[in-house]
Order: sequence, then C-alpha cells, then structure tokens
Amino acid sequence: MNQTILVLDFGGQYKELIARAVRGLSVYSEIKPGNITALEIKKINPLGIILTGGPNSAGAENSPKCDPAIFELGIPILGICYGMQLFCHMLGGEVKSSETGEYGRVKVQLTVNNKQGTVNGSFMALMSHKDIVTRLPEGFLPTAYTENCMASCENAARKIYGVQYHPESKHTENGIEIIRRFLFDICNAKGDYKLDDYISTQIEEIRKRVGDKRVLLGLSGGVDSSVCAALLSKAIPGQLDCIFVDHGFMRQSEGDEIERIFSKRKLNFIRVNAKERFLKKLKGIKDPEQKRKIIGEEFARVFEGTSSLIPKSSFLAQGTIYPDIVESGGGQNAVIKSHHNVGGLPSELNFCGVIEPLAGLFKDEVRELGKKLGLPKYLINRQPFPGPGLAVRIIGEVTGEKINILQRADAIVRAELDKIRRKPAQYFAVLTDTRSVGVKGDDRTYDYVIAIRAVNTDDFMTCEYSPLSHTVLSRISSRITSEIPNVSRVVYDITNKPPSTVEWE
Ligand code: XMP
Repeated sequence: MNQTILVLDFGGQYKELIARAVRGLSVYSEIKPGNITALEIKKINPLGIILTGGPNSAGAENSPKCDPAIFELGIPILGICYGMQLFCHMLGGEVKSSETGEYGRVKVQLTVNNKQGTVNGSFMALMSHKDIVTRLPEGFLPTAYTENCMASCENAARKIYGVQYHPESKHTENGIEIIRRFLFDICNAKGDYKLDDYISTQIEEIRKRVGDKRVLLGLSGGVDSSVCAALLSKAIPGQLDCIFVDHGFMRQSEGDEIERIFSKRKLNFIRVNAKERFLKKLKGIKDPEQKRKIIGEEFARVFEGTSSLIPKSSFLAQGTIYPDIVESGGGQNAVIKSHHNVGGLPSELNFCGVIEPLAGLFKDEVRELGKKLGLPKYLINRQPFPGPGLAVRIIGEVTGEKINILQRADAIVRAELDKIRRKPAQYFAVLTDTRSVGVKGDDRTYDYVIAIRAVNTDDFMTCEYSPLSHTVLSRISSRITSEIPNVSRVVYDITNKPPSTVEWE
C-alpha cells in the first residue's frame, strides 16, 4: 500500500494537475469529493491533504465546505486558492471579495517570517481569484503578499498551509518545488509510488480475478485500449480476445498497422472489416449528429455479431482511465462506460464482470506504461482521434471515394507537419463539401476543397489555431493538389475554440 495524498475537490479546474504533480514526485495521490467526511479520510489514512481551488466564495452559504473535523486530524493540509480561503473562513478568519481580483502571472513577495528556504525574495506565480483573505484565523502567520492580497499563510504547529496562487501550474516559478516541500518536508513522504509497482500489482490482481476465464476487449487502436491490451496480454497471456471493429474510417494504413502490432502479442486478435456495412448505413446521411449516432449503433451491432466467436462468461475489459472516473463522479467503475468512441456495448453479451486495469492512471502515466510494455512510440503518442474517425472529417455524405481522398490528404498533412520541430498539438485534414473550379494542365476542373486544421492546446477544451509558416502550408497545398487528382483547392482553418470546435463535425 502506497503512502497517499488526498486531493479534495472543490470544483477547481486544476484538480487533476495537482494530483498529477504529486504523482510526478513519486507520491500516490487520489482525488476525492470536497465533502468527504473526516471518518472516511481516517480510514484511508493519508499522509497529507490538499484542498483545491474552486469557483465559489468560501463565505457564501451554499459554497462547498469540507468536514470541519479534518482540521483536527493532525494530518498536514495544503489549501490552494479557494482551499486557502476555505480553511481561513472555517477557522475563524475573514475572506472578502476584492474589487479587481488577480488573473495571470503576478509578483509574489515573501515576508520576513517566511521559512521557505531557497525560495527567496520574490517570484512570479499564477493567480486566478477575486476573493481575498483579509484576516487570518488565530495562530496563523502571513508568509507572502502580492500588491493586492495575502499570497500565502501558515500555522506550522498545526501543519496547515495555504497558497493563494497555483503551485501546480507551470506558470508559477518553482511551483513544483512548493508541492515537493509540502510532500517531503511537511508530510515526510518517502516517495514510494512507482509505475512499475502499479504494473506488478495490476498483473497480480488481474490474474487472481480472472482465474482461467477469458477476457474480451474492444480494441480501437487508441492509446488507452492499446495499452490495456498490452497489459492484459502480459497478465493473462492466451486468455485475451481483442475485437477490432474496422469501420473503414481509420487514417491511411492505420487498420493494418493495428493488426500488425497486436497480432504479434499473446492474444486472440479478431479484426472485423465492416466498412461496407457502415457505408451502407450512412448512405444519404449528411447531419453530423445523425452520422455519429448511426456509427455508434452500427458499432454495437457489429460487436454483437461477434458473440459466437467469444467464449461464454468472459470478463469485459475497458480502457477507462482515472480522469474518466473522476469526471463521472468517482468510483462507480462497475457501470459500463457508454464510450463516445464506440457508442456503448451490447448488453446481450453477458459478461461475468468488468476489468479496468488503467482506472488508476492519468493519461501521461498510461503513455509511460505503454512504453514500458513495448508498444511503438507513434501509437503511444497518437493524437486524439474521434471514435467515428474520418466520417466526421468528411463534411456531408460519406462515400468510399471521399474516404480515399481524405486518407491521402490527411497522410500528407501529417507527414509534412511531423517534420517540423515545434508541432501543433493536433493536426489533420478535412474534406469539405464544397467544390471549386480549378485548372490543371489546360483543363478546367471542378473538384473538392481540402481544409487543413492544426491547433495548439494543452487540454483540448479550448485551443488556438497554430500559426503555421507559409512555407509549410504551401508545401502541403502543392503536394495535395498535385498528388490527389480530385482536389482543386486547399484552405487553412484559422479559427480558435471557442467559437469553433477542433473537429468540423
Ligand atoms: P472538439 O471537436 O469537441 O474536440 O473540439 C475536442 C477533442 O476531442 C476529440 N474528439 C473525440 N475524441 N471521440 C474521441 O475519442 C470522439 O467522438 C471525438 N470527437 C472529438 C477531438 O479530436 C479533439 O481532440
């Protein structure tokens, strides 16, 4: 059992970043709802507690509060932003709304009584708050200020610490150092969390649970399901059935690549080529939502059709990862995820249980695990790809001809952008439903318009279009128009999200 830091969630958008930062320092962390009781916390017996930020005012009647008894447990506490305001308010201090608030990087000046060692004088930190602490509870000392607010405080005897800024953000200078000190100097952490231990514990648990039964996994070729397949084939070699439903909307050669990688592992790889079935269902369909729905439903039907190939009473494995669980309210992992990738699995396949071996990991930990399990780099670092695949990057009706054109254009976009040093976070081609006049040789043409989409983002919730150089754009444009006969024009999408989404449909 690893030493654990509990991250209590008060609605802050950085909760995962905090938990991930803790794990990055080799200390296991878990996110729990802010109102978890002190009794439940005692059962978990954490080494320390971090209270996250959040959008509320600590003093407001219906704002989320923690169980006041947690302050009496003797467990070290670090409050971040709302977390600091919350303990100040609950322990008898005062929190008020300020006139202007602070948003962005702000200079933080340490006070003389600050004992933070090497972090001397001042540093820049990310602030994002309107409320400020105006009076500390008894026994607390201010340890830093900005021009507008108290930036940190502590009660060393009670081991309660607060920072108004966000140490978990890379925009805070030495932010990770502040978290490191909380873990190692205040909580006396040993740093006993290692991904290798996660692998061996999971393997042991999977073996114990599965016994001599079989496990079924729907493999999409995405990072999560691929790493899940690699882990399971190591845990229970020969007992895993992987079904890869190829809907025909994968990128160029991708289906064959997936088959090549997984056919070599110790698992029963079943590829169902269902392109014609999907195309038939999508005939005449132009509405994006309808396309997604039809693909999701057809996926489930194809999956169902494979039931004769799967031994009765198998376990169902899913590539659910920790953020999926946190987002869905936490812990109820017995519910089969209606994955937006695959539209839900048929209930007719009576499974004897669900296995989610990645459910404790963050995305970058899943990638690291994939690397340790020997999966190729390009698969592990794969860009996000919508479940319905190229079908939602072909605007309007999907046809075999259009898939072929888009696969070729997309391969060119990716090949050219793979060559540049600072790559956008996601880049691909879209086949618009506009045709335009062109001239090739002496002939007038009336052909397709391809759009290039390339975006920069950390979280995919918002993004900015990538300012690609005109040299790169022209190279892509001339390659697409000369190598693909049915394309007469290439355009570049220069919209951010919001107002546009990353995908066109
Ligand atoms: P949007 O288009 O909503 O996309 O701005 C945000 C991110 O999500 C990806 N995306 C999907 N991923 N299944 C997925 O697994 C889907 O159906 C899906 N649709 C969009 C998109 O590529 C972007 O990275």
